[in-house]
Amino acid sequence: MAAFETAPGDEARAPRLTLAQRPRRNRKSDWARRLVRETRLSVDDLIWPVFLVDGAGRREQVSSMPGVFRHSIDLAVEAIAEAAALGVPAVALFPNTDPALRDPRGSAALDPENLVCRACRALKSAAPQIGVITDVALDPYTSHGHDGILVGDEIVNDETVAVLVAQALNQARAGADVIAPSDMMDGRIGAIRAALDAEGFENVQIMSYAAKYASAFYGPFRDAVGTDKTLRGDKRTYQMDPANGDEALREVALDLEQGADMVMVKPGMSYLDIVRRIVEAFHAPTFAYQVSGEYAMIEAAAANGWIDGERAMMESLLAFKRAGAVGVLTYFAPRAAAALKRG
Ligand code: PBG
Repeated sequence: MAAFETAPGDEARAPRLTLAQRPRRNRKSDWARRLVRETRLSVDDLIWPVFLVDGAGRREQVSSMPGVFRHSIDLAVEAIAEAAALGVPAVALFPNTDPALRDPRGSAALDPENLVCRACRALKSAAPQIGVITDVALDPYTSHGHDGILVGDEIVNDETVAVLVAQALNQARAGADVIAPSDMMDGRIGAIRAALDAEGFENVQIMSYAAKYASAFYGPFRDAVGTDKTLRGDKRTYQMDPANGDEALREVALDLEQGADMVMVKPGMSYLDIVRRIVEAFHAPTFAYQVSGEYAMIEAAAANGWIDGERAMMESLLAFKRAGAVGVLTYFAPRAAAALKRG
């Protein structure tokens, strides 16, 4: 210990190091840091997930996601038009279906008048410049909260895929630009692609939730869409094991072969290694979903004054870009877009 003891004034007598390499030189001022910056976040990177609820003039706070609301279609259209004006390129719609309309087979998913279809049509006429992404999965429509059809205690794959195909067509007919299957059934991308093409929707894109993990970080989302009350058991027979990385690459390979235009990793922050591996292996447009639990953690810590919420938001979003994602689904989208505009 004695060797490290210092007396006042010792710093002044510190020996001059001769260092050829001083990484700090490039950090010495704002202009220098800007000059060597490798990654940038732009508004073009942001996709905003929006929760819908029936009615008019309704704006309900999601209790586990401060600052996130369930909007009735009229108010959703207004909020989305504002996001579009800030430059946000696309939104992803998620319905909180009236519990009375949920049944074991998720029939409301096929109703051309369901919340998502009505919202698609409203958006296409009120804010045609923004891309509309719709979720293909049965969980907001089933009485048991699973993404597929439950027979006994099994989520049956092939029977579910047939329903998902019909759900995707229903959304495409309502004007959806991008179909985003989040259900993790095998073979659904190829089946949906074939059905879309057969009906003349060859320009409707598919964004596949290719590597979607069975995660604890989805908790607040289930609160938002009302599946916290309906879900029986867990989703580990179809969503991926958080321990697996190679398997994510196999999932992505299958979805690209079957016609996915874009792939996604979900959740985001705990899976940045997966994003990087997919980008390096496939060089395909790869997105990450900063899910509800990630949003809730940042917001809760910020509300307690434990972190600077604004800086944590921007740092977390930048991390997705650094990992190689081409874009991020994030509940922060409008706030991040406004912050980017302020500069
Ligand atoms: C279900 C779905 C989930 C999310 C998007 N689609 C949750 C789940 O699998 O239970 C989660 C999104 C989030 O947590 O923000 N099809």
